Amino acid sequence: VRKPSPEDRFSFGLWTVGWTARDQFGDASRPELDPWEYVGKLAEAGAWGVTFHDDDVVPFGSDDAKREEILRTFRKAVDDAGLVIEMVTTNTFSHPVFKDGALTSNDRSVRRFGLRKLLRNVDLAAEVGASTFVMWGGREGSEYDGAKDVNAALDRYREGIDTVAAYIKDRGYDLKIGLEPKPNEPRGDILLPTVGHALGFIAQLEHGDIVGLNPETGHEQMAGLNYTHGIAQALWSGKLFHIDLNGQRSIKYDQDLVFGHGDLLSAFFTVDLLENGFPGGGPTYEGPRHFDYKPSRTEGMQGVWDSARANMEMYLLLAEKAKAYRADPEVQAAFESAGVLELSQPTLGSGESVEDLLADRSAFEDFDADAAAEREYGFVRLNQLAMAHLAG
Ligand code: GCO
Ligand code: MN
Ligand code: MN
Ligand code: MN
Repeated sequence: VRKPSPEDRFSFGLWTVGWTARDQFGDASRPELDPWEYVGKLAEAGAWGVTFHDDDVVPFGSDDAKREEILRTFRKAVDDAGLVIEMVTTNTFSHPVFKDGALTSNDRSVRRFGLRKLLRNVDLAAEVGASTFVMWGGREGSEYDGAKDVNAALDRYREGIDTVAAYIKDRGYDLKIGLEPKPNEPRGDILLPTVGHALGFIAQLEHGDIVGLNPETGHEQMAGLNYTHGIAQALWSGKLFHIDLNGQRSIKYDQDLVFGHGDLLSAFFTVDLLENGFPGGGPTYEGPRHFDYKPSRTEGMQGVWDSARANMEMYLLLAEKAKAYRADPEVQAAFESAGVLELSQPTLGSGESVEDLLADRSAFEDFDADAAAEREYGFVRLNQLAMAHLAG
């Protein structure tokens, strides 16, 4: 497979390659480098962009002068490396002040502090030229159902997101918000657990026009859901603003494996959708190919860069295979006989009213359901063609 290049628009969270592998059970297994030490290596590996949480670059609690100085150094390194900062996000989960959440903490003073921290980073995101402001509310949730008034929590969540969105508009920033669903971890249950919940929430916002999603592969899979269907519905809703690609094997803790190192077949169809779009046309994803993975704790610095490259290589391998799959005449024929393309045809004829439908005896009274039930769709053969392209 060819080498990744900036045209591929691959980007990485600074917290991915920068993860020192401290976990619930053990201390860090890798050294912590300065943030600017990662960016040159990312560019060398073929990445186009880098993303970060405020606290990944500027330690929590730094004063304005210190913050400015650190950011100057960081931005110079990013520029020198020729990288783009395409997304900025805010850490509202590490400091113990956020142990019951930021925008939905039961403590009002914490909510006000959380909102200020977010607004400060909206300014930063605009200043560094990011196009997306991701909001992952990892601590917004509960362990105990009785401890959270979910009605009030959703009111506060809406108030918080609407306040941030209104601020973006008021300042005239060219920035969109990407909410990131996750079912659990670190909270027992996180609010907005899936793509579907988040889409329902966005529909209730006053400034929902600039609020969309940043769905992560593993997060939908932790809930036993189909990630490709999730991003498909986000696309259909005009809300796929950004993506977090990674790998997850089944319903368990958040594994953050390399993209494609979890459910490979699902990853194939994810790339097929991102690269080739829906079979019958429709909205397409134009954003960055962003990875949110963790180099496993067993890896040293060699493994960090090997795993970063593996994400891009997996994506490019799958993109090649997905292109060949779509171009294969046998696949096109199988699409045809499976009715995959027939689904794009509206169920009612153009200009047909429900009265016309009721009057159409062929649709019901004279319809031979038993004969129609005989249709063979050939979905298994179609899937086997996909498998042959993937494994062949
Ligand atoms: C996680 C999340 C985070 C977010 C990040 C950016 O499970 O830890 O995926 O990595 O993506 O905070 O918002
Ligand atoms: Mn994850
Ligand atoms: Mn994670
Ligand atoms: Mn993520």
